Amino acid sequence: MKHVITLIPGDGIGPEVSEAVVRIFTVAGLEIEWERHDAGVVAFEKTNETLPVALLDSIRRNKVALKGPVTTPIGQGFTSVNVGLRKALDLYSNLRPVRNLPGVQSRYTDVDLIIVRENTEDLYAGLEHVVIPGVVESIKIITERASTKIARFAFEFARNYGRKRVTAIHKANIMKLSDGLFLECSRNVAREYTDITYDERIVDAACMHLVMHPEKLDVLLLPNLYGDIVSDLCAGLVGGLGVVPGANHGKEVAVFEAVHGSAPDIALKNLANPTALLLSGLMMLDHIDERDTATRIRAALDRVLVNGTVRTGDLGGTATTTEFTEAICRELQTGSAALPDS
Ligand code: NAI
Repeated sequence: MKHVITLIPGDGIGPEVSEAVVRIFTVAGLEIEWERHDAGVVAFEKTNETLPVALLDSIRRNKVALKGPVTTPIGQGFTSVNVGLRKALDLYSNLRPVRNLPGVQSRYTDVDLIIVRENTEDLYAGLEHVVIPGVVESIKIITERASTKIARFAFEFARNYGRKRVTAIHKANIMKLSDGLFLECSRNVAREYTDITYDERIVDAACMHLVMHPEKLDVLLLPNLYGDIVSDLCAGLVGGLGVVPGANHGKEVAVFEAVHGSAPDIALKNLANPTALLLSGLMMLDHIDERDTATRIRAALDRVLVNGTVRTGDLGGTATTTEFTEAICRELQTGSAALPDS
């Protein structure tokens, strides 16, 4: 079946990792018409918009997008395109599975976490102002509606995928009203899911626990800011930002993107690891019912990682993005679809 999918290559390492995924999907035999759209600084130079209307229309029409990272200037300049996109399409849930990959050495061997991050409010509302020179206020928005929606998403996910525990992460000892409301909504939803254990952890203690015993946690339910920070911490548990995928879900549309950013330190050098965006793309294939092809590509990726001779610098190798991509393509063309033995 032919699919029409919006592709946002992004900037920095975005175009390199996006083209790697497009190449692998083509070699795997997928029939996809990609509608390519710029965002951020690249779009601004062409259209004077950082989040062009044509891009939003394309995603609304196709319902599915694959997105590379987009740079957000620090401290000044335009507001985050990533946050803007999530708000514009009400992509209220950010799902980030964090698992050990075969052949990728990390400090832990048994990490299997699901991060469910609220994606539309909290301190990301961007409501900041100068009260008087030298004093700035930043407003944290937490609503019953968004907190209940994200809690329900986490519990539904847990039930559908056989997960046993949902842990809400908060700082309600200090932010009694805002994080307090987040917890209250989580508890209300938890009462409807008696088959799933519910517990709570304060965010600082949760970070320590994740570093000491990541295997003891299962599905993590977090407001936006803690979700962002804890995601990168969790990526560090399994080999780094180069290997952790993500999906943003709304009611009707879904945008798949890696956890990592535009990595300006390695951009345009053919050094980026495309695994995180590839795994995001595989989540997208599951979403559009191309499960068999997703399984075949995952097997090819696993074989390349287990073999270990072709891997990018972040995983201790010397391969370029292109060499790693071509190794996966070769596996797809010549290797068996079976999973590697080890
Ligand atoms: P980053 O994730 O871009 O990079 C952090 C470190 O991880 C760097 O050393 C980088 O080289 C490495 N890294 C990241 N992805 C990698 C990959 N695929 N392969 C190998 N190494 C990789 O985080 P940073 O530097 O804080 O942010 C850079 C820019 O990206 C900022 O403008 C930020 O706002 C933006 N950003 C965009 C996101 C998105 O579009 N969803 C998400 C996170 C950040």
